[in-house]
Amino acid sequence: EKGGYDHFMLKEIYEQPRAIKDTYRGRLLADQGIIRMAGIDLNMEKFLNANRIIIVACGTSWHAGLVAEYIFEDLARIPVEVEYASEFRYRNPVITDKDVLIAISQSGETADTLAAIKLAKEKGAFVFGVCNVVGSSIARESDAGAYTHAGPEIGVASTKAFTTQITVLTLMALKLAKAKGVFSESRYHEYLTELETIPSKVEKALESNTLIEIIADVYKDSTNCLYLGRGYNFPVALEGALKLKEISYIHAEGYPAAEMKHGPIALIDEHMPVFVIATKKGHYEKVVSNIQEIKSRKGKIIAIVTEGDEQVRDLADHVIEVPETLESLTPLLTTIPLQLLSYHIAVMRNCNVDQPRNLAKSVTVE
Ligand code: F6R
Repeated sequence: EKGGYDHFMLKEIYEQPRAIKDTYRGRLLADQGIIRMAGIDLNMEKFLNANRIIIVACGTSWHAGLVAEYIFEDLARIPVEVEYASEFRYRNPVITDKDVLIAISQSGETADTLAAIKLAKEKGAFVFGVCNVVGSSIARESDAGAYTHAGPEIGVASTKAFTTQITVLTLMALKLAKAKGVFSESRYHEYLTELETIPSKVEKALESNTLIEIIADVYKDSTNCLYLGRGYNFPVALEGALKLKEISYIHAEGYPAAEMKHGPIALIDEHMPVFVIATKKGHYEKVVSNIQEIKSRKGKIIAIVTEGDEQVRDLADHVIEVPETLESLTPLLTTIPLQLLSYHIAVMRNCNVDQPRNLAKSVTVE
């Protein structure tokens, strides 16, 4: 049942090229320049007339929501707010019938997310569900939706659900960008064709597994770790930290790289591993200067870089390469090494990778 892998989590990490392909199969028709998503087509007016999109989710799905905020605003120019479902539902939020609420949930059963969509519906918002489990409560309660088609996710730590959620949300943003006319034809085509190359680039990213095992062995006894990223890769830093916490029980925090100087830099000494996402596009030079600041305080630097990078290689203690892609698609690649790192560290610490203590696969209590 684990298909020859030691754990479901590892199997599911390796399934990502296939899962991402399954998610866009039948939807992404790159050569025809079409994205087919009935749930959007049938409700296009709701999206185009929306004052804003509110995304609600918990945990890893909330991180996918944060990535989506960057994508929707950057590509489709629609204002987005991302909320923890548990906070949103209890703070008397301002919701109108001009709002579109997107609920993201792997299980489709998370109690707080379900309650948040019920509240939004009562106030007249249009609710769109992005779920993995077909026929789940959130899928049924939503006005429309799109499934992620990741296949069953058994490991408690979410992996392929995250990358397929980002895939669906990217398709949505591209479709809306096209419909709004805010995207040039050539830029649209560039995105569509690049999205089709992602599964093979994820495959390539997975090839760093042996190197990552070596790095995991160096840092497995750490008691604290920092994860830094900027822009599209800030949510990836949060997700990297969450993965490490939940399965290896090492305290980890994710931060936007530029926030380091507002506090966390005080933590840095020779015992602090800092995982930095420093891919070429985006805020590369700024992240490089953050890396220099860490280095001058003797922090250990493990950097996720674009293939062929030399500048960061000179500064970092370890570098892990991922293939080059469009900036907004980098989270689909930079997440992969961080998943593998957490996995190997947890295995080396003899943790129960697939069923970490105190955690359940779907959180049906609030
Ligand atoms: C992290 C993890 C949790 C879930 C969260 C939301 O690896 O598994 O943080 O992401 O409980 O679950 P869903 O997506 O089912 O609503």
